[in-house]
Amino acid sequence: MVAHSSYDVSYDVDAVHVPQLMDLFASAWWTARRTEAEARAILAGSDVAVTVVDRPVDRLVGFARVLTDRTYLAVVLDVIVAPDVRGEGVGAMVMDAVLEHPWVAGVTSVELVCRPEVTAFYERWGFTQHVGHSRLMRRTTDVSLIGE
Ligand SMILES: CC(C)(COP(=O)(O)OP(=O)(O)OC[C@H]1O[C@@H](n2cnc3c(N)ncnc32)[C@H](O)[C@@H]1OP(=O)(O)O)[C@@H](O)C(=O)NCCC(=O)NCCS
Repeated sequence: MVAHSSYDVSYDVDAVHVPQLMDLFASAWWTARRTEAEARAILAGSDVAVTVVDRPVDRLVGFARVLTDRTYLAVVLDVIVAPDVRGEGVGAMVMDAVLEHPWVAGVTSVELVCRPEVTAFYERWGFTQHVGHSRLMRRTTDVSLIGE
């Protein structure tokens, strides 16, 4: 991993970075159809947002958000790094900040949903596929989430 000192990690989403958040959303299969109005609603409705900004060029390059009851369960969502800076440690910065946030660090369970090719990334922070007899069930109007 290449440490990059120009990256700033924060729990704020500066309004000027919302268009760049749309670029990040455009790069991921499950977020690509979101509108800017939906993005603003998502930010307002999330308990924690993590951003990584490449400060010299003031560019948002990493994002994640969390829904949390601050006690038993936190759900990590929309972990996305700009395609051209993947492999530089930004994703690790995002996940470190997610798991260090006080509304996440102390909760009993932290959960996320991901594709098989990303499981090894999350295993670095102790996430496992051992979910006992649990099954993910989903009720959605987004057909991309229920296809193959
Ligand atoms: C998955 C993602 C967030 C990783 O971000 P990144 O900035 O490339 O990751 P980093 O550079 O911080 O990598 C940290 C470590 O994880 C490893 N890693 C990164 N992606 C990995 C993957 N898919 N599988 C296994 N290991 C991975 C890196 O090799 C690195 O290891 P190292 O420290 O030994 O060098 C990024 O590839 C991404 O945005 N993907 C598209 C969106 C997506 O699928 N997000 C996950 C949604 S559940």
